Amino acid sequence: MANGSYEYQKPDSCAFVIFGVTGDLTHRLVMPSLYNLAAANLLPERFCIVGIARGGMPSEKLRENLLEGLRKFATRPVEDEIAKRLLQCVTSIEADPKDPDSFDQLKSRLEKLEANRETGGNRLFYLATPPSGFAPIARQLGRVGLLREDGGAWRRLVVEKPFGTDLASAKALNDELLKLVTEHQIYRIDHYLGKETVQNILVLRFANGMFEPIWNRHHIDHVQITVEEKLGVGTRGSFYDATGALRDMVPNHLFQLLSLVAMEPPARFDAHTVRSEKAEVLAAIQIQSEAEALQNSVRGQYIAGRIGDSGLPDYRSTRDVNPESTTETYAALKLTIDNWRWAGVPFYLRTGKALGLKRTEVAIKFRQAPFAMFSCTPVETLAENYLVMGIEPTQGITLQFNTKVPGPTVRTDGVQMKFNYKDYFQAEPATGYETLIYDCMIGDNMLFQRADSVEAGWKAVQPFIEAWKKAGHHGLQTYTAGSDGPTAAAELLTRDGRSWRKLD
Ligand code: BG6
Repeated sequence: MANGSYEYQKPDSCAFVIFGVTGDLTHRLVMPSLYNLAAANLLPERFCIVGIARGGMPSEKLRENLLEGLRKFATRPVEDEIAKRLLQCVTSIEADPKDPDSFDQLKSRLEKLEANRETGGNRLFYLATPPSGFAPIARQLGRVGLLREDGGAWRRLVVEKPFGTDLASAKALNDELLKLVTEHQIYRIDHYLGKETVQNILVLRFANGMFEPIWNRHHIDHVQITVEEKLGVGTRGSFYDATGALRDMVPNHLFQLLSLVAMEPPARFDAHTVRSEKAEVLAAIQIQSEAEALQNSVRGQYIAGRIGDSGLPDYRSTRDVNPESTTETYAALKLTIDNWRWAGVPFYLRTGKALGLKRTEVAIKFRQAPFAMFSCTPVETLAENYLVMGIEPTQGITLQFNTKVPGPTVRTDGVQMKFNYKDYFQAEPATGYETLIYDCMIGDNMLFQRADSVEAGWKAVQPFIEAWKKAGHHGLQTYTAGSDGPTAAAELLTRDGRSWRKLD
């Protein structure tokens, strides 16, 4: 993202090695993104894709399997010529971290392939596996020397989410990886950073002169970050029941939004500076005691209801979910940031599944104008001033302000000024992973999480994790699928004299 010549720079020749090549993530996101990059002529000149299959699979079979996935998940009609060009790059190699010898063989086969394809020894290892695979795979790659940067070639490790399940496990994983590679070789993916509307938060704040002077506690009353989903837990019962809404969404996706909104202006638009400012603001989130965490949070679990035309059963009757589960499918938190810009400005975060609407947005609520001047007019209240960054499905920016209602008396009403991306820009349909994968190949890690950010995120949510675990059933709210969440989430704000922004 950092480079001005983004659209034209071709990545260095390299080998793109995928662990988990037959998995969902590869089919849904990785291959469709590589296809889109191929269509835009943004893949390296000399390139090979190595699919690591645990049980072994002939290359031809893997190509067929990937083509099938591509036809299903590509974001645009698949053109035979482009697909052929891409799939010609694919080779299957067998390796399993449980069988260390297989990594010695992987090394020699990969080196031969690299020599054949003249990729220059640059390698990207993409860990598209369940998290339990991250450390064992990296350990084996390290042991056989595949991660060592030598001979002028780069070696990169792309790690998918979730990165740890709490502070201790995230630290342990960072420690383990950092024994094998240096920080600049690790690309921790958070797919939120691949979204144009998320990247635009930086541009909105720092490429315009009018927002930054009022972007502080003197003018902003509070910030709301909302990620609401209509989908229930579906077939992910076993993962989700061990994870819950907080771990699944907050330290990663919601904190990406928070850090972009709350960070100090970076002096330069480069990966180190931007990531340092993001890490700094995450580290400034006030760490709450468990008692404070209980007071400043709401967790809920959905019960049967209807979303649109379809009925959804109780969360607890989802396949692979414990019938007595206390896992939250909804979380709302109140956080504060201990620095000069934000002291006293609450950040309210909420996220949940099986809600009536799909909505991801950041709403900045400005302080109310003094009312005194209107006290001798028919105006009873002023509408709230919001700047709303719509991430999904509304992609755009809305400014809400008061205006005079035409007529002989002074009356006011709240109106909105709206910018919609689609009115101005015609983007090709994309997965959102293209930028991330492209950035891994050109070595720009601005849109990836650094170890310190990941740990600061977990540190801030850890008291909530602990407090909720101890509380068990106690305090767990229920909400009907298709509703707008537990009523207690509204109370989290009303007790502060505030309310969640209603959808337009
Ligand atoms: C994933 C979570 O990381 O993000 C899912 O594991 C969630 O549970 C998804 O549905 C939300 O992503 P998006 O882009 O649809 O907001």
